[in-house]
Amino acid sequence: DMDRFIDALMKKMSIEEKIGQLNLPVSGDITTGQAKSSNVAERIRRGEVGGLFNLKGVNKIKEVQKLAVEESRLKIPLIFGMDVIHGYETVFPIPLGLSCTWNMDAIEKSARIAAIEASADGICWTFGPMLDICRDARWGRASEGCGEDPFIGSEIAKAMVRGYQGKEMKANNEIMACIKHFALYGASEAGRDYNTVDMSRIRMMNEYMPPYKAAVDAGAASIMASFNEIDGVPATANKWLLTDLLRNQWGFNGFVVTDFTGIAEMVQHGIGDLKTVTARAIKAGVDMDMVSDGFTGTLKKSIEEGKVSASTLDQACRRILEAKYKLGLFDDPYKYCDLKRPAKEIYTKEHRAEARKIATESFVLLKNENSLLPLKKEGTIAVVGPLAEAGKNMVGTWSVAAVLDRTPSLVKGLRETLGNKAKIVYAKGSNIVSDSAYEERATMFGRSLNRDKRTDKEMLDEALKVSANADVIVAALGESSEMSGESSSRTNLELPDVQRSLLTELLKTGKPVVLVLFSGRPVVLTWEQKNVPAILNVWFGGTESAYAIGDVLFGDVNPSGKLTMSFPQNVGQIPLYYNHKNTGRPLQEGHWFEKFRSNYLDVSNDPLYPFGYGLSYTTFGYSDIKMSSNDLNINGEITAKILVTNTGNRDGAEVVQLYIRDLVGSVTRPVKELKGFQKIFLKAGESKEVTFKITPELLKFYDYDLNYVCEPGDFDVMIGGNSHDVKKAGFTLKM
Ligand code: IFM
Repeated sequence: DMDRFIDALMKKMSIEEKIGQLNLPVSGDITTGQAKSSNVAERIRRGEVGGLFNLKGVNKIKEVQKLAVEESRLKIPLIFGMDVIHGYETVFPIPLGLSCTWNMDAIEKSARIAAIEASADGICWTFGPMLDICRDARWGRASEGCGEDPFIGSEIAKAMVRGYQGKEMKANNEIMACIKHFALYGASEAGRDYNTVDMSRIRMMNEYMPPYKAAVDAGAASIMASFNEIDGVPATANKWLLTDLLRNQWGFNGFVVTDFTGIAEMVQHGIGDLKTVTARAIKAGVDMDMVSDGFTGTLKKSIEEGKVSASTLDQACRRILEAKYKLGLFDDPYKYCDLKRPAKEIYTKEHRAEARKIATESFVLLKNENSLLPLKKEGTIAVVGPLAEAGKNMVGTWSVAAVLDRTPSLVKGLRETLGNKAKIVYAKGSNIVSDSAYEERATMFGRSLNRDKRTDKEMLDEALKVSANADVIVAALGESSEMSGESSSRTNLELPDVQRSLLTELLKTGKPVVLVLFSGRPVVLTWEQKNVPAILNVWFGGTESAYAIGDVLFGDVNPSGKLTMSFPQNVGQIPLYYNHKNTGRPLQEGHWFEKFRSNYLDVSNDPLYPFGYGLSYTTFGYSDIKMSSNDLNINGEITAKILVTNTGNRDGAEVVQLYIRDLVGSVTRPVKELKGFQKIFLKAGESKEVTFKITPELLKFYDYDLNYVCEPGDFDVMIGGNSHDVKKAGFTLKM
């Protein structure tokens, strides 16, 4: 049916109209509301546009869709995309925060709600999930991904694709996902955005590709080429990547879109002029051009000159039309334009309640000396810090659709939560950074921080005065929203000096201090770990953050988040990740420095907080591991069981993690790899047996010849509440 429909349509299309389908301009002047008279509108009428993105509002979208289906010659509907990567108007935690829930149902639900809201507002395509594995906290876009591990990354990939696309994009609240950024964007050298990537095939296949592949297997209908190069060829023109691997090996049958000006940027990469790089892009496997106007500007000429074949154009055009067909837009171009939906389906009480719940699960309790937390709902609480007053800062990076000024600030949220049970006093205490030029750079792209004009000293004095009569101090410090995200790489990941000074002075009061840390990446907390009694990392938790933070601070919810990126002791340790290789000169366990071993003179090899780490208000005990057998046959399966007990006096959730080490391989293998996890809820004193199934499939990896194999031999099994503190057992795989 689809094929016949598209065949018939394509017979009617001119070469310009086919090229038009491949063109994705940004909404541009249409955003100003002049939908009918703008340049983009004119191009839509001429059939030169396949889709538009980041246009907000179902009214506007409907008006623009009308131009395409009523005023263009062939009446082909447009697709409307947007960066909806952690919610729409109801904003969920940044994706890195979401990943720390280890709760795949919750993550899927967040994507489902995002799809419901976005689709109610006319959007049928989201630029997510972002699945770039990242081991470098300097990279600002770590905030948009799922951390350093390919196993949990793959689980998240599936959950998000299911959430966005639902049942094959049939319903009008199911939208098309776009895997990004394909590929390896999270490995930009030195964590500098848009920088070069250079990586062996064996590493990329084992450590970076699995989440993208999982999303392909889950049926994601589009994928975005990344800005970086791979093997010396930008991803956007990399035929091995976009055709050999993606289509021929993985069987992807959706379409490939470039990132913003990805084609034109290849001129800067230095591989040719616009016409040359455009031809290379389409021949490599790109189907849609985001903003470069490479296809519209040069493709016809390349075809006339025989540099690109007409069938290559046809193939790309077909893939875009197929996506539109699968979305149901040929049946009803206004499928996503029901003007009554927004009021009923966007930013609803139910959605916000879910966002609040998920946010509480994303927070990671890093330290809690003498059970300072949870706080009692009584007395006077001083809330101090630049992150406490601005609600708009809570939503984090890439929240295009958020209505910023509606989001309650931490102070407002806590006051609501506490009612008249306790008194909140507030002082800003400092700006985010003392350097206004730095702050301007950090916010150039986004939301302003309301920089305070007072001197650092005046602000500090006020904070100390306000805190003087408080029973406890909650210090809301860290990064501002736009200090992580795109184009926000940093080389110093400690708390900015002015905030560290404020914290130091607050600690000197002798009052208990809780650090509520806002961040879009792992930050360096070595000093804080030594000096601050309690640290709760809240990322950027979305529109309901203020309430969610209150839920956790006051113990209505017991924190259960676990890190999906290692927190380094200092920036010099980066890249730092738990699933590293052993090397030929490993440091012996429990040692810091040994001459002629792989280590540093000035810092141990350990992270400050390991992958999988996160505390609770209760404690959990782990029994020894019980293996169903110590032999695993190539066609068989065994189980590893462990008894987990809530040994404290509060109910709570624990993420039980399974790691495996392949002790001897034909190629070197990591010291441990996450291979399973279960999030369980235990009442105080309760025990549960947790069972992990281990199959040969779970043990497979890409070998030197890039065959996906498992090899016989001995394996360690490790189970625990983080990647460092584990119980150990073992088994042998027999062929
Ligand atoms: O989807 C994004 C991408 O992640 C970064 N460049 C711009 C795109 C569209 O907004």
